[in-house]
Amino acid sequence: MTTDLMARRARLLGPNMPTFYDEPVHIVKGEGVWLWDADGRKYLDCYNNVPHVGHCHPHVVEAIAKQAATLNTHTRYLHDGILDYAERLTKTLGHDISQMIMVCTGSEANDIALRMAQAVTGKTGFIATDNTYHGNTATVSQLSTRRPPIGGYAGNIKLVPAPDSVRPVGGDLAGQAQAFADHVAAAIAELEAAGHGFAGMMLCPSFANEGFPALEPGFLDPTIAAIRAAGGLVLCDEVQPGFGRLGSHFWGHDWQGFAPDVVTVGKPMANGHPVAATLTRPDIMAAFRNAFGYFNTFGGNPVSCAAALATLDVIEQDNLQANALTTGHYALERMRKIKHPLKAEARGRGLFFGIEFVMHDGRPATEFAAQVVEGMRKGGVLMNRIGRNMNTLKMRPPMPFKTEHADLAMDLLEQVLADTPL
Ligand SMILES: Cc1ncc(COP(=O)(O)O)c(C=O)c1O
Repeated sequence: MTTDLMARRARLLGPNMPTFYDEPVHIVKGEGVWLWDADGRKYLDCYNNVPHVGHCHPHVVEAIAKQAATLNTHTRYLHDGILDYAERLTKTLGHDISQMIMVCTGSEANDIALRMAQAVTGKTGFIATDNTYHGNTATVSQLSTRRPPIGGYAGNIKLVPAPDSVRPVGGDLAGQAQAFADHVAAAIAELEAAGHGFAGMMLCPSFANEGFPALEPGFLDPTIAAIRAAGGLVLCDEVQPGFGRLGSHFWGHDWQGFAPDVVTVGKPMANGHPVAATLTRPDIMAAFRNAFGYFNTFGGNPVSCAAALATLDVIEQDNLQANALTTGHYALERMRKIKHPLKAEARGRGLFFGIEFVMHDGRPATEFAAQVVEGMRKGGVLMNRIGRNMNTLKMRPPMPFKTEHADLAMDLLEQVLADTPL
């Protein structure tokens, strides 16, 4: 069955389509933090952040169905849904961020953010980290090192070494914040010397795709100061840490303690319905709207807005941010107690946590981490890996994840770690 589906995928979708796990999972049903495959096997989902309030949450499903049965059009007609959502979402943000463009993917949201910075500054130079992912449009993919662009990286993009809590930038943890900011300042100088000028830096406040290094609030202060001093915009990609996942704060930039100029959101925003947005201050929005005509057929349609509104309802009504704080803390404490010769660091914040493994000779334990992920999948717990060397386990479950689920995952992890050859 799985082999047939794989062959059909290759025949119909083309080569090199990524799947997770040596033996890909064929999921047919989801509910809360649980998934079922085609053979009826049940898995604990410790990986998926898109079904933020739980797979197939009835409140979101009902909102989508009700709106789909009433009307679905685009934003060239008047509709309350997008306005209600803009009001509710911007209330969660400070820093005079009160306006929004709704789109369908995080990639589009980030593409707009880059263009906003161009419109405000009149410059084209951008900075990101050298181990990130912000999306797949032609422009945004220039910020990624996952696969080098054909023809090489454009001269107006500079990538700086990503923060790392096991191998810190600059060599030591105490000096890492300044060392990171120094790289940003040097990149700004290079962009200016090359004639591109500096438009802004795009960053994820929790450096989720970089391997979610353990950082203290305020880590980014010297970097933000360098960006501001050069007249650039702070483009904050909240696609991963946003909507309460970090537990202590609703937004990653609030945890870090800086003021973004532009915020982008996506993945968890409508619990699986494809919705994303770029949010900013009115002065920046006006500069963007005047520089670029922008219309997005599906962005902000009534069904998407209903799904996004219902997702916010559940986050609030079920106190999911508070749950992320307590359950995340519990899971991290359990991971900290795990003893293993290759364990370099257990780290996390809220419901985003994992363990990094390093070999005795200091090389990243990439293959070992891969085997652990496969062992967990065989044992019925879905998770994955991240980081520059893919040697860090990544757990980022739906937000209704409770301590009993953390116990299940950690009990199995202890067993898989004991069974996996070094
Ligand atoms: C931090 C971050 N930003 C943006 C994106 C792109 O979002 P999308 O896949 O919805 O285009 C991703 C996707 O993985 C992401 O992790």
